[in-house]
Amino acid sequence: MTSPTHQFENSWDNQQRAESYAKLEFPNTYYLAYRDLPEIISTHVKGNHAIDFGCGTGRSTRFLKDLGFHVIGMDISSDMLQIAIKSDPSGEYLLVENGEYSHLGQGQFDLVQSIFTFDNIPGWENRTNILIELRKLLKPSGTMICLDSTPELYTHEWASFSTIEYPENRLAQTGDIVHNIMLDVEDKRPVEDIFWTVEDYLVLFEQAGLKVESIYKPLGKKDEPFQWISELHLAPWIIFVLTKNVS
Ligand SMILES: C[S@@+](CC[C@H](N)C(=O)[O-])C[C@H]1O[C@@H](n2cnc3c(N)ncnc32)[C@H](O)[C@@H]1O
Repeated sequence: MTSPTHQFENSWDNQQRAESYAKLEFPNTYYLAYRDLPEIISTHVKGNHAIDFGCGTGRSTRFLKDLGFHVIGMDISSDMLQIAIKSDPSGEYLLVENGEYSHLGQGQFDLVQSIFTFDNIPGWENRTNILIELRKLLKPSGTMICLDSTPELYTHEWASFSTIEYPENRLAQTGDIVHNIMLDVEDKRPVEDIFWTVEDYLVLFEQAGLKVESIYKPLGKKDEPFQWISELHLAPWIIFVLTKNVS
């Protein structure tokens, strides 16, 4: 948490961070974000036309392509996108502004996937507007999968993250800036995220006309080849499965 005068900056709109992030793939705590997604997607998503919102350096986009989706990756950071394009020259990647997606048409997509993106998006109004515009991209039968950090991520130690240097995270309220250190990358400068409680995510989705179909909070398992720290009893990530709420 920081003073209200401190302006949030997208940590990922930076070439050095982008290069460091691009080497990540699925180590440690990140494994838990992606481990259950193939099953979650096959349970909830019909069709194979997808948007990967906040695609970063393309890890999450290539993941969907490997599951058989036609995907457009979108991001607000050109530094991240440049690496995504280099890693997947035949892929489709778009630089976007907040809430400006109308050029993609309405009701064309079966899935809007957003992995770790809202952790970097400040402001109730801004988030609500972005979600309303993403909702418009979905077919009536479409699904949005929104995966972000749990509040616990910022107050515990994890295989991939340390927060011990930031005891002020414990006082964070929805919308505040929180910090962590990523342990799997070369760039160990603290990352700034936006804290959001689960209750307030639910309010946000309701405001945007999205209905919560399911919530998943994957835990680590003892037989997995990782040195789990908090992951066996606390979930680092929360996965919301959302529908258009058309009745
Ligand atoms: C932590 S990265 C995750 C990248 C990718 N989804 C993955 O799992 O590897 C979060 C990404 O969200 C992007 N982002 C943040 N705010 C955004 C916004 N308003 N619109 C689109 N992308 C945004 C950042 O630039 C960054 O590339």
